Amino acid sequence: MTSTVNAPSHPRSDALLQRAQQVIPNAMYGHQDARGLWPGAPQFVSRTAGSRIWDADGHEYIDLLCSWGPIIHGYQHPRIEAAVDKQRRICDTANGPSEHFVALAEKLVDVVEHADWAMFAKNGSDVTTLCLTIARAHTGRSTILVEENTYHGALPWCNPDKTGVLPSDRAGLAYYTYNDLAGIEKLAAEHAGDLAGIIVAPFRHDPAGSDLEMVDPAFAQGLRRICDEHGAALILDEVRTGFRMSFGGSWEQYGVRPDLSSWSKAIGNGYPIAAVLGAEHLRASAGSFFVTGTFWFSAVPMVAALTSIALLEELDGLTHMFARGDQLVSGLREQASSYSLPVQITGPVTMPYLSFAGESDHQFTLAWAAECAARGVFVHPKHNWFMSTALTPTDIDTVLVATDAAFGEVARQFF
Ligand SMILES: Cc1ncc(COP(=O)(O)O)c(C=O)c1O
Repeated sequence: MTSTVNAPSHPRSDALLQRAQQVIPNAMYGHQDARGLWPGAPQFVSRTAGSRIWDADGHEYIDLLCSWGPIIHGYQHPRIEAAVDKQRRICDTANGPSEHFVALAEKLVDVVEHADWAMFAKNGSDVTTLCLTIARAHTGRSTILVEENTYHGALPWCNPDKTGVLPSDRAGLAYYTYNDLAGIEKLAAEHAGDLAGIIVAPFRHDPAGSDLEMVDPAFAQGLRRICDEHGAALILDEVRTGFRMSFGGSWEQYGVRPDLSSWSKAIGNGYPIAAVLGAEHLRASAGSFFVTGTFWFSAVPMVAALTSIALLEELDGLTHMFARGDQLVSGLREQASSYSLPVQITGPVTMPYLSFAGESDHQFTLAWAAECAARGVFVHPKHNWFMSTALTPTDIDTVLVATDAAFGEVARQFF
């Protein structure tokens, strides 16, 4: 890859990485490992505020990654921080949950159409896993149909990396292809009598580096029908999409209500919280077995979630995020075509993903993202980005100045 114009240096980040190499396996791991970004990308973040982040060396960026999704109102939103500060002073992790445990369950049941009850945890993979357990407890069956590549977490049953994973960790799973209704129909027939559920994401998002694929409404409706025919649970994984496709369930727009849904990321604007939401007929099964986590009942993230959801309502957050997403995506498309670049942008405009047709190893997207970063805009070259209510029209105009120059550089260097 050719070097960027004005590429900032990162001596503090480099020094931190060297220290990390002494005490952390592989220095960094998972999605926090910036080695998946462009060479010389900032690895550490030192400060965040609103729509901005600063790396460990003090460079400022308008952030379109939003902490990989959780930040839906911008970092340190004053209303959320005030509510959180107040709660932290009186009660957070305690012998039992606070009143906010009940209030948040009531709120989610109110806002998400298919939900009659809620259970809380911390991470997305806690709740995707819990959904599978509830479906199995309810049906007394084993088999869950899972899309081959969609990311549902990094636990042994779903980690795209199979290192250390036993075949027994994946027992009871059968794999389908997204949007292939005939294929899933056949698979369900093969497992008739043992089908506990089908887990599916509102649109197809593979672990990293693939274009996104919107759901065919007929596929979504077909899954509902297949689950009804087989007495199986339809599980919608809203961990990534929750509150960024709709103020409620993402498949409501197609007339499809799941039996169970898993939520995390954006519910708490960065505070750690996850939820399983379920329909009435699964309530008894969901309450029939022991499940818990040391920090699952802490009050502060629940207050953050209640305030964040109230803000989404008050600000009409979805309309705002779709408007900013439209502004960004239409601007990017115009710019790419003005340079005759083969850019494709997939996914909902609130969670867009950009790639260059025909590139290998993301070479053009990496170079483009590096050029954006050198101009103060943080975009991930191998993962979808996220809109937030903190992004103003002026922010997006500023982003578009940087992206235009970055496209110009990529066109000059590679095309
Ligand atoms: C759709 C989906 N499900 C589950 C997960 C796992 O969530 P977590 O990393 O919080 O365990 C993710 C994380 O990106 C996700 O996008």
